[in-house]
Amino acid sequence: MKIITGPPVAGDNYFFRKKLAEEAWNLIESGCHILITAPRRVGKTSFMYYLKDHPKKGYCFIYLNTESVNNENEFFRRLVNKIVTTEHIGNSQKIVTFIKKNIPSIKRVGPDGIEFTKPDEKNFKEMLVKILQSIQSDNIKLIVMLDEFPQTLINIIEDEGESQGKHFLRSNREIRQDIESSKNVQFIYAGSIGLENIVSRLNAVATINDLARLIIPPLIINEVNDFIDFLLKNTKFTLSHKLKNYILKKIEWLIPFYIQLVISELNNIYRDEDLNEISVDIIDRAFVDMLEQRNHFEHWHTRLRTSFKGKEYSFIKEVLNTVSDNNIIKTNEINDLAVKYDLVEFYRDLLKTLTYDGYLNNNDNPKIYRFNSPILKMWWKNYVAN
Ligand SMILES: Nc1ncnc2c1ncn2[C@@H]1O[C@H](COP(=O)(O)OP(=O)(O)OP(=O)(O)O)[C@@H](O)[C@H]1O
Ligand SMILES: [Mg+2]
Repeated sequence: MKIITGPPVAGDNYFFRKKLAEEAWNLIESGCHILITAPRRVGKTSFMYYLKDHPKKGYCFIYLNTESVNNENEFFRRLVNKIVTTEHIGNSQKIVTFIKKNIPSIKRVGPDGIEFTKPDEKNFKEMLVKILQSIQSDNIKLIVMLDEFPQTLINIIEDEGESQGKHFLRSNREIRQDIESSKNVQFIYAGSIGLENIVSRLNAVATINDLARLIIPPLIINEVNDFIDFLLKNTKFTLSHKLKNYILKKIEWLIPFYIQLVISELNNIYRDEDLNEISVDIIDRAFVDMLEQRNHFEHWHTRLRTSFKGKEYSFIKEVLNTVSDNNIIKTNEINDLAVKYDLVEFYRDLLKTLTYDGYLNNNDNPKIYRFNSPILKMWWKNYVAN
């Protein structure tokens, strides 16, 4: 296994999260369609990879990232192709026979996808429904995992307008409600942007209210100690209980990504400087070095910069600047900023986005917001606010 700081992890690089897996399987086995809700970088994609690689008997998982898709038919086309080229489905004679019989425009289903008799425009949503119905003919439960689904929705809204965005959400719901297909097919949606916030801004909450929520929390203290030991298998140094606690106190928001970053940075210093052991000073330096690598954190800022324009962006930036300077921001100060930027009606949605995406929380006191992690706070203060 390796220390990995950025891309999703898989195989023996994945640290097994037992409680999370149990919760997911409870929802899956009770037949739910699921929305994974977790802030950025918490490990959503890695967890979906884990599910795909460790199906329980009788289950087949499909993973599809639709980040670049910007229209509904293209979304369903990608999904149809993914399903029929999945080994388990493509190899099932029963399913292939059913597909060919019920969708006459399909000439052949091969490892590269579908070949059509007529290459004209297709309604891939209808085709998907038939294909999902075909799964009934075999004794397999199909779980379709759609990553970056909210980004697809945003793309559709930007390119084709809000009504097409709502249409897209309704189409997905219709497919889920299709009783024939939902017996053997379930959907899991995820993304680094909160779906609920976008849908609520569209006034379309009803289109996703059938989804069960699966929350991916930060690691709990027992898990985190095991996780550090798991990563230390890659290093030539060890860490005493005291040093581990020192690191955890500094990180505060114990998501696997931050732990990976710190251990990776410690490993670099230890190796480059030929050290014999790690000390508190070295840990402090590792944190400084870690923050200097802009690419680890830049996406937090980019996301806000691309999603919010004009006064909304200015409001968000000033809120985060204030918290990074003063450690906290009180709700009355937030109100004042909303008045300043003429956002009294909308600022609660913006605040929800900052909470959902993992920038801020008000867990200790509903009237006081702070950064989830001192790491992000320090980064924001050094590289965005100043
Ligand atoms: N179970 C895990 N074991 C080891 N490392 C993990 C695990 N989960 C997450 N990570 C760490 O977090 C990083 C981000 O993981 P991942 O891409 O799965 O998160 P994400 O929630 O999908 O992020 P995004 O919101 O940006 O899509 C990985 O590069 C890795 O450092
Ligand atoms: Mg992801």
